[in-house]
Amino acid sequence: MSEFLPIEYPIQIPYQLRVYFTKGVFDTANPIFRDLACSRESGNRHKTLFYIDEAVGEANPGLVEQIETYFKHHENDLLLKGIHLLPGGESIKNEPDIVDRIYADIENSRICRHSYIAAIGGGALLDTVGFAAATAHRGIRHFRFPTTTLGQADAGVGVKNGVNFHQKKNFVGTFSPPFAVINDLRFLGTLPEVHMRNGYIEAIKVALIRDSGFFKWIELQVDALNRFDESVLEELVYRCAKHHVAYIATSGDPFEMGSVRPLDFGHWAAHKLEQLSDFKLSHGEAVAIGIAIDTLYSEEMGYLDSTSAQRILNLLQQLKFEIYSDFLEKKNGGRIPSILEGLEEFREHLGGLLTITLLKRIGSRFEVHEVNTDVVLKAIKRLKTL
Ligand SMILES: NC(=O)c1ccc[n+]([C@@H]2O[C@H](COP(=O)([O-])OP(=O)(O)OC[C@H]3O[C@@H](n4cnc5c(N)ncnc54)[C@H](O)[C@@H]3O)[C@@H](O)[C@H]2O)c1
Ligand SMILES: [Zn+2]
Repeated sequence: MSEFLPIEYPIQIPYQLRVYFTKGVFDTANPIFRDLACSRESGNRHKTLFYIDEAVGEANPGLVEQIETYFKHHENDLLLKGIHLLPGGESIKNEPDIVDRIYADIENSRICRHSYIAAIGGGALLDTVGFAAATAHRGIRHFRFPTTTLGQADAGVGVKNGVNFHQKKNFVGTFSPPFAVINDLRFLGTLPEVHMRNGYIEAIKVALIRDSGFFKWIELQVDALNRFDESVLEELVYRCAKHHVAYIATSGDPFEMGSVRPLDFGHWAAHKLEQLSDFKLSHGEAVAIGIAIDTLYSEEMGYLDSTSAQRILNLLQQLKFEIYSDFLEKKNGGRIPSILEGLEEFREHLGGLLTITLLKRIGSRFEVHEVNTDVVLKAIKRLKTL
């Protein structure tokens, strides 16, 4: 026994998770970015290094010049250290060289812990740049500008980043709240249809676990959403983002130390499906199928009534989501469909205890720690016939 008592102190680090909504963030008259960048220290020029998703750059040909003009206009406060274009989409998270390249840019541009790294793009680019920013110099302040519905409503407004490793989603990453998130709703105007819908699915997910009124609102807006009505789309993004941020900030477990992950409802199967499809299925498309599986599983197990289950499947289909994919039947040599491996992989990702969120009503969730795989397969079989 040592004569020395253990040394123990609590460490508390206050974070502010802040998400701003605007249109035209780099119009010179728009003060949001400048004001935020100067909010910590005044009196020096705040170095910023930008990364832009190539698809966003192509869809917004004047963007680079606009950022340059913005920085020139605010040159007493801001100093642009470079604008780099990177390929967007899931492949960026599978490419370790990209993180190395960002580290090299950080070094060459003399970016320090009081500088900023800004990322403009889809969730995949934000996850990658966010990971590099969080790990270089043990953490550089990071601005996120999500440009997809899914990014603005979910992926971009949280506290996580990460890249894939050996085909495993988000195997390498950190919990690291961004300095700020700026949702410029104008970016959504150039999104391809499939990515436009991807944000809808995370809104349905969060409505199912937290807010039956929001679910009902989405049901009422099906036609408008299928037309991509701008104001309805923006309201959906705003309400969905608010739910995500509120949950992260108030759940008591922002860095997911425990095993309960309600925001990952429908995601155990989705993550595996994305991998089984070699990422041909987008995250949103995979989550739609994952939600369909866990909805029918909840019904089969007697947790959720059939009318509610039907309402959920109807809504997914009315919003033109596939609720079945042949990848669900893919086998890896054995007799059992590989999708079931997603349960064990989800457990590993969470930590010790498998914890799956299910529904007892629309807007109300609960957690289970065991899953009957025969019933999962039955649910999948039913989806094939719908
Ligand atoms: N960190 C988190 O908390 C978190 C949460 C959920 C999801 N995610 C991750 O987010 C990723 C999915 O993000 P996503 O749905 O934004 O997809 P994405 O990043 O793959 O982008 C979709 C496609 O649209 C393009 N694009 C982006 N914005 C555009 C625009 N405004 N106009 C035209 N094209 C545009 C991209 O280049 C890409 O090809 C997944 O990797 C997922 O794992 C992360
Ligand atoms: Zn998701």
